[in-house]
Amino acid sequence: MVDAPVLITGGAGFIGSNLVDVLLAKGYAVRILDDMSTGKRSNLPMDNPKLELIEGDVADAALVAKVMDGCSAVVHLAAVASVQASVDDPVRTHQSNFIGTLNVCEAMRKAGIKRVVFASSAAVYGNNGEGESIVEDTPKAPLTPYASDKLSSEYYLDFYRRQHGLEPIIFRFFNIYGPRQDPSSPYSGVISIFSERVEKGLPITIFGDGEQTRDFVYVGDLVKILLQAIEAPDVEEGAINVGLNKATSLKHMLEALREVVGQLPVISYVPARPGDIRHSRADNSRLLQRFSLGQTTPMSEGLARLLGR
Ligand code: NAD
Ligand code: UD1
Repeated sequence: MVDAPVLITGGAGFIGSNLVDVLLAKGYAVRILDDMSTGKRSNLPMDNPKLELIEGDVADAALVAKVMDGCSAVVHLAAVASVQASVDDPVRTHQSNFIGTLNVCEAMRKAGIKRVVFASSAAVYGNNGEGESIVEDTPKAPLTPYASDKLSSEYYLDFYRRQHGLEPIIFRFFNIYGPRQDPSSPYSGVISIFSERVEKGLPITIFGDGEQTRDFVYVGDLVKILLQAIEAPDVEEGAINVGLNKATSLKHMLEALREVVGQLPVISYVPARPGDIRHSRADNSRLLQRFSLGQTTPMSEGLARLLGR
């Protein structure tokens, strides 16, 4: 396998560290740039000689240019992943979530590196994502600084594609779950919160009636797609939804959790969060056209792996 490392920004986080495992297993060298704001060393096999961790900020242009040196491709995941954090502090999160992307584009242009895989979000659709499964051409309606930064990042990546020959593959992730997702904030992914509380026997709160649905993707299935994107011979224009085109209600997800653990703690229902999206489901035709999804992980199995059962 090639010795030039793949650069993963945000590689010490939930999705990044799962990708690192797969890349190392395939013989890739991996270089990570991560400010360790939510990333953890304990997510990484630090004793692997093919892994290099550089602690620093993707908003630091000079540092990004330096870490880019000699890399074969980039997977740009570094971002403040909490939507609520972007609402509370748009200026700070903009540095990571947008300036970071611009720095990556510029450093790639200067270093002559072409391939970049980018983590955008279903958040770019805002409430336009409600209803039937959502196609990529649906009008965008970013409702938060997080979503605006993701959409602007997409536009800039596309500018660098047209102007400078970069090869961006832009994925709009729907709800990703699995091992190493941090459950510690009230705004963490619902599966990470519920799983942790089930393990500890702590009560669970459902916002709304529990009939809201999400398109949950197991992280192991996602990283297989990211790997294909790194290795794809060509890139095509246009962002790609990453979802299974499957709507699972919170109640159904809890039932699957109960089957894994045997018993659920007390569940209480409180009013829905303001602005909460009722139904979110990806039309994934473009994903299926361009990549091989293979056999995806059923929720029961994904939850069992998450809980180490
Ligand atoms: P995460 O918080 O575990 O990972 C983000 C990583 O980026 C962390 O390791 C963090 O320390 C690092 N980071 C943050 N700001 C940085 C900065 N300024 N410089 C360098 N490193 C920085 O979250 P995740 O769920 O693994 O998210 C990865 C990417 O996927 C993010 O871009 C996120 O917006 C996107 N995404 C995630 C989901 C999901 O369901 N988890 C959905 C849509 C999009
Ligand atoms: C997720 C993403 C967000 C993205 C959006 C796009 C996460 C953390 N958030 O938001 O980045 O903008 O998809 O579609 O991945 N809930 C409870 N109890 C809890 C926690 C949550 O009932 O303790 C409910 C929420 O109110 C919501 C559902 O669970 O109805 C899912 O919530 P969450 O995991 O935060 O994700 P999204 O809101 O879908």
